[in-house]
Amino acid sequence: MSLDNTNILEMHNISKAFPGVQALKDVSFQLKPGTVHALMGENGAGKSTLMKCLFGIYKKDDGEINLNGEIANFKSSRDALESGVSMIHQELNVVPDQSVMENIWLGREHTLRIGPFHLVNHKRMASETGKLMEQLEMEIEPRGRMGSISISHQQACEIAKAVSYNASVVVMDEPTSSLSEKEVNHLFKIIRRLRSQNVAVIYISHKMSEIFQIADEISVMRDGEMVATAPAKELDEDKLINLMVGRDMSQRFPTVEAIPGKVEMQVKNLTSADENSFKDVSFDLRRGEILGIGGLVGAQRTELVESIFGLRPVVEGSVTIEGNDIGIQTVKDAIASGMGLITEDRRGAGIFPLLNITENTSMPSLDRLTNKAGLIDHKTLLKQSREMNEKFKTKTPTMETPIKSLSGGNQQKVIVARWMMTLPEILIMDEPTRGIDVGAKYEIYCIMADLAKAGKSIIMVSSEMPELIGMSHRIMVLCAGRKTGILKGEERTQENIMRLAAMFGHDDFKEEDAS
Ligand SMILES: Nc1ncnc2c1ncn2[C@@H]1O[C@H](COP(=O)(O)OP(=O)(O)OP(=O)(O)O)[C@@H](O)[C@H]1O
Ligand SMILES: [Mg+2]
Repeated sequence: MSLDNTNILEMHNISKAFPGVQALKDVSFQLKPGTVHALMGENGAGKSTLMKCLFGIYKKDDGEINLNGEIANFKSSRDALESGVSMIHQELNVVPDQSVMENIWLGREHTLRIGPFHLVNHKRMASETGKLMEQLEMEIEPRGRMGSISISHQQACEIAKAVSYNASVVVMDEPTSSLSEKEVNHLFKIIRRLRSQNVAVIYISHKMSEIFQIADEISVMRDGEMVATAPAKELDEDKLINLMVGRDMSQRFPTVEAIPGKVEMQVKNLTSADENSFKDVSFDLRRGEILGIGGLVGAQRTELVESIFGLRPVVEGSVTIEGNDIGIQTVKDAIASGMGLITEDRRGAGIFPLLNITENTSMPSLDRLTNKAGLIDHKTLLKQSREMNEKFKTKTPTMETPIKSLSGGNQQKVIVARWMMTLPEILIMDEPTRGIDVGAKYEIYCIMADLAKAGKSIIMVSSEMPELIGMSHRIMVLCAGRKTGILKGEERTQENIMRLAAMFGHDDFKEEDAS
């Protein structure tokens, strides 16, 4: 039997409103079996909401969903899973205190009957999980505690879980946001295998290059509406961006006009207290300079910048600002010395989910906006919070909306706004544009360029080569916790970054090359 021309899933005229936002307007979507269908669109366009309506997490206001030609109205995600629709969520929802296998089989544990008792059959669960991991070529210990494995492994477990349901439709909402390149390739292998088994995959991502590697078809949403669906081979990056943002974006990076001035910060021989982390890292950061930090996942870039910011202990080395050893011990010290850090893990550590946009934006600026009598200057606080979010075009009904009801990318914009509002002299940005759409990326780049022009110093950790090259004056590369080199001017090429990123431990690595 050939299903080639039949859609496995059809969504007709779906509408969904939240207080103050019409998140979906009359959206229709068709999915063929055995295809990878990318769903693209700016932050807040409605991608996750559409998928959550399918999955029974949100109740649609209007419209009809057909699965295999039958009306599907899932009341819960359990319902959806049992009908063969699984979803890997943008926000990981794992139970950290349970084991990997318990997370995967949650709610459908294998049981063992002993007299009147039903006991969880841990042995069987472990062997089934082991088989699943083997089938997916994942090296994850079934009995390991979920909270103790890396974010990327947690994400891999979510994928394993989705696969374990033998789904005919698998939704992946930004599955690669915290995966390394190797893991991404592995995921693609899994996706291709699913496709060859006639499974349909809906793939949501802001990473353009991924889309063209994996997608057969592409649908684009804008402001809650479906604006186009086309075979991937009929589109290219420029056409796709045009559909997403509704205008041409010939320029991906603004010109960085700033010319670095005198040295603002000096990091000397910094060595982490964790012996598996970074060691003996030295570099200068000038006023008006954007210093990129490149490297592969595991290069210890985040650990380095978090240590500079007082979040992790060091055993050796110094950080001086304008010649003074500031001896940063805590985050408070760092903020007081004029630093700001936009963390990589914005969804976990970055947001206060129940607090509103104003509160989430202004938190670290409270000290600055409190007078000697201890009174907070609310007027300025509200004004600056609003202005910062307007600058980034944060899409929210009001400033009083709790941050958790914003789309993933918009939550990230609030966190960027938060640290901009502290008016830092030295801004450290760890993967600042991860999960952020192309239009908003450009806004962030412009702000970086403006800050540099105003004499501020910026450190940007990034895994995106074009961003490192397009925005940094110099690029420092780390490999396995060692600085393997600094690239400037014409040296800043993808090849050079890759070479340095894989260098440590190779015969051609010499300490002196790294200066
Ligand atoms: N639970 C909710 N309560 C209120 N508003 C919501 C809720 N979920 C989503 N929204 C709003 O609906 C709109 C669409 O959000 P959605 O999360 O679907 O966007 P998205 O396309 O997935 O964006 P991103 O790329 O940033 O993940 C946004 O304006 C968002 O603020
Ligand atoms: Mg989303």
